[in-house]
Amino acid sequence: MMKKKWWHDKTAYQIYPKSFFDTDGDGIGDLPGIIEKLDYLKDLGVDIVWLSPIYRSPLADQGYDISDYYSIDPRFGTMEDMERLLAEAKKRNMYVVMDLVVNHCSDEHEWFRKACEDPEGEYGKFFYLRKLKKGSCGVQAGDSAEGRQAQYAVSSPDGYILPCNWRSYFGGPVWEKLPGHGDWFYLHVFHRKQPDLNWENPKLREEIYRMINWWLDKGLAGFRIDAIINIKKALPFRNYAPDRADGLCSIHRMLSDAEGIGAFLGELRDRTFAPHNAFTVGEVFNEKEEELPDFIGDDGYFSTMFDFAEAVWGSSPEGWHAAAQITPDDYRACLFSAQERVRDIGFLSNIIENHDEPRGVSRYIPEADLRGMDAALRLTAKKALATIYFFVRGLPWIYQGQEIGMENLPLHSIEEVDDIASRNAWEVMRGLGISSEDALRAIERNGRDNARTPFQWTAGHAAGFTTGTPWLQVNPNYRQINLEQQAADPASVFRHYRRMTALRRDPLYRETLVYGSFEPYLADDHNVIAYLRRSQTLTILVLSNYQREDRTLPLPADVRKVLLDNCTGSGSPAPLIQDGRVALTGYRTLVLELAQKSE
Ligand code: NOJ
Ligand code: MG
Repeated sequence: MMKKKWWHDKTAYQIYPKSFFDTDGDGIGDLPGIIEKLDYLKDLGVDIVWLSPIYRSPLADQGYDISDYYSIDPRFGTMEDMERLLAEAKKRNMYVVMDLVVNHCSDEHEWFRKACEDPEGEYGKFFYLRKLKKGSCGVQAGDSAEGRQAQYAVSSPDGYILPCNWRSYFGGPVWEKLPGHGDWFYLHVFHRKQPDLNWENPKLREEIYRMINWWLDKGLAGFRIDAIINIKKALPFRNYAPDRADGLCSIHRMLSDAEGIGAFLGELRDRTFAPHNAFTVGEVFNEKEEELPDFIGDDGYFSTMFDFAEAVWGSSPEGWHAAAQITPDDYRACLFSAQERVRDIGFLSNIIENHDEPRGVSRYIPEADLRGMDAALRLTAKKALATIYFFVRGLPWIYQGQEIGMENLPLHSIEEVDDIASRNAWEVMRGLGISSEDALRAIERNGRDNARTPFQWTAGHAAGFTTGTPWLQVNPNYRQINLEQQAADPASVFRHYRRMTALRRDPLYRETLVYGSFEPYLADDHNVIAYLRRSQTLTILVLSNYQREDRTLPLPADVRKVLLDNCTGSGSPAPLIQDGRVALTGYRTLVLELAQKSE
């Protein structure tokens, strides 16, 4: 049996502060805006709130490039605002979690400035700096390790041979010239304004632990831990076979070779999170199956980690244009296999979207369906998806705007796009000869701006997000999709989310919905997504007819009670249950309490 933790029965919510609520009219969401909306979140049923980064930052990657870990960026507010947020959250029994971005910092961080002044000094060792030589590349030198090194070597535009040919996540080589030096280079696996921190250096690690403990002592409940799998590099630096015409290879190649991250993560936990009983959620991709207990088992490195199986499905090493579109059956397969891998080893964190992903409703409801649906069916489908992911085993997360069914942003030109990942994808696709029309459609499907447009509070100016000009355009559908209208409509997506959080909290069902086992149901039926949650005393069935067409489905036992129906409030009659079968209209989804076998 898994050890019970204080956060297991909670509901979590991600805020992207820049786009949540602006109180000073500068078009940028801020901490006072979050404080103002705490009662809204409480009413929605949220307990834990994660804030994407609000530390001082040049915002080259929207705050994932931190120039001072100990201060709040003035665009978001002040340290007093942050302290007020912690106090106000506490009053409401809510927990605040910040983003912990420690794979890299900003090139405007003091450490990096000092490293530039003296690459061989103390701060030079906080980063991966190398003094390089000029030479020629691409020499064929046989099949030895040295031969491969020489064969795949790449150089900077001015002829320096780079230590390795890895491609950064945002495009181009991971090596960049150290400002102020002709022959020194630094490593950045993300943007060039995000130099990687050298975790091999114990002094750097001490600085990180000091900072984490400083925040936890302030009353923070914990952290969402950014890009953490990247802190361990495969050293010494080496080249791999290139996977694109740029002569570079994906970072994933290096990550699968990097060994020994556990020593860093164990130390991190023991020095910071464990003594504070902090809650942590890891952004972990590509963990090895046998490592799951180390990562999220009892006393694992993290409390929980996100399930990204659905998010990464269909991605292609070639680029966004080549990504496959996920079908309901694929979605179910991802969801169920993640559940089966983790079983009761620990708790996954379940999402349908975040600030790096397209909107869940635009991705997981087949595109053709969503476009062709009338308004009522669209709502039913959105609530179907919500119900399915929310009640699988694990911690449910709601990303801001998800609770009102916000959708992807339609684009007319690359000029409208802010996201650096989308801009890089654009260059890659255009370089491959993909038409600008097709490239734009691929960005519409995959880009990070989809989730970053301002929260749609009202049908008024800028969707009620700001009195000024929003930093990123508001999705033009805000007159149809906004909280104000949904709060008043019992059939809305928002009201459905509120019912879901209430059901998860209900003392009659909590134990089963939180700790009950997960069992697939009708897992071979096309466009059915269904599963059972079972405890000693109760069996709950989540059953979704995940398609437009009506159908009748068998039930595994008699129904004691309908706990949730995604057609509530829409004037639909109660679901028709007869002779062990239930008739379901398109996308109708039910949560049912079943009779126990002995009844
Ligand atoms: C993952 C974050 O979620 C993403 O937004 C960011 O660009 C990278 N890590 C780099 O910090
Ligand atoms: Mg503001």
